[in-house]
Amino acid sequence: MAYDPSLLQSFLLTLAALQSIAAVQFSVTNIAGTSPGGLRFTKEIGIDYAKQTMETTTNFIWRMLEEDNPSDRKQDVKEVIMTIQDFKGAEAITYGNRINVSAIYLEGYQGNVTWEFTSLIYHEMTHVWQWTGAGQAPIGLIEGIADYTILKANYYPKGFAKPGMGDRWDQGYDFTARFLEYCEGIKSGFVAALNKKMKNAFSVNYFVELLGKSVDELFKEYKAKYNGTVVERNGNEHENVSRMTEYKDRHGSKSRISLS
Ligand SMILES: *[C@@H]1O[C@H](CO)[C@@H](O)[C@H](O)[C@H]1NC(C)=O
Ligand SMILES: *[C@@H]1O[C@H](CO)[C@@H](O)[C@H](O)[C@H]1NC(C)=O
Ligand SMILES: *[C@@H]1O[C@H](CO)[C@@H](O)[C@H](O)[C@H]1NC(C)=O
Ligand SMILES: *[C@@H]1O[C@H](CO)[C@@H](O)[C@H](O)[C@H]1NC(C)=O
Repeated sequence: MAYDPSLLQSFLLTLAALQSIAAVQFSVTNIAGTSPGGLRFTKEIGIDYAKQTMETTTNFIWRMLEEDNPSDRKQDVKEVIMTIQDFKGAEAITYGNRINVSAIYLEGYQGNVTWEFTSLIYHEMTHVWQWTGAGQAPIGLIEGIADYTILKANYYPKGFAKPGMGDRWDQGYDFTARFLEYCEGIKSGFVAALNKKMKNAFSVNYFVELLGKSVDELFKEYKAKYNGTVVERNGNEHENVSRMTEYKDRHGSKSRISLS
């Protein structure tokens, strides 16, 4: 049989694609046991769905951040470990490649907890894959990018900030997500490009480099665009609508408690 180089090439490409997925392992352990939240997790979410969600959200985030090429990703993350356990004070905590989900939070959630869990994992998994400027980026921006993911994935809660809301560009969560959405509207691919620049350092000048304007100018334009069309929510209280996740950088040098 004649040797067909294009067949071999497509075989190798398929193999490479499989390997890039296989290179990351996802594991889920429910150590909340028979506590009410642990039971609700088992009944309404389950280990299989949780693992599948880790993979789906990972693929979504890689695409969103334009990290289709494995060399653009965090090379040292070979597995992501999720633990469901009883703790108070946050819905989830992501620390490097570990995502701890609060069973107490799941227990108390009113509504479709499968949906809520999925949305939460879009946010937490972003922390696993995003760059943080080696710990120099403002926490509000890091949380903003994580909420930008749930906005793009169409998994944002009802009370999520509307376009034009917010007092500061780095206010965090859904407020910063809406500002990033505005920037993305100026230049498609902006969020991915910003994240790439944040691999080893952070500077507010990245906004100038990417969009030709300072972040303050951009925020002014953003506010002006929606002036008169939004009723501000009390941003500092953050009510129940966004997540008070606690995020610590992977080196553990700084404990970064979210804005609240
Ligand atoms: C997450 O859970 C694991 C397993 O219980 C625990 O060892 C770790 O300290 C927790 N991480 C944080 C940041 O709470
Ligand atoms: C609950 O949310 C999940 C995940 O988004 C969805 O698949 C399911 O259809 C929802 N269930 C209901 C009853 O809306
Ligand atoms: C919004 O509009 C009001 C009234 O026209 C104006 O006084 C204010 O400066 C505008 N604010 C922004 C942020 O553009
Ligand atoms: C926030 O949660 C509390 C207690 O669960 C509830 O009474 C209140 O209505 C919620 N607020 C909003 C804006 O959803």
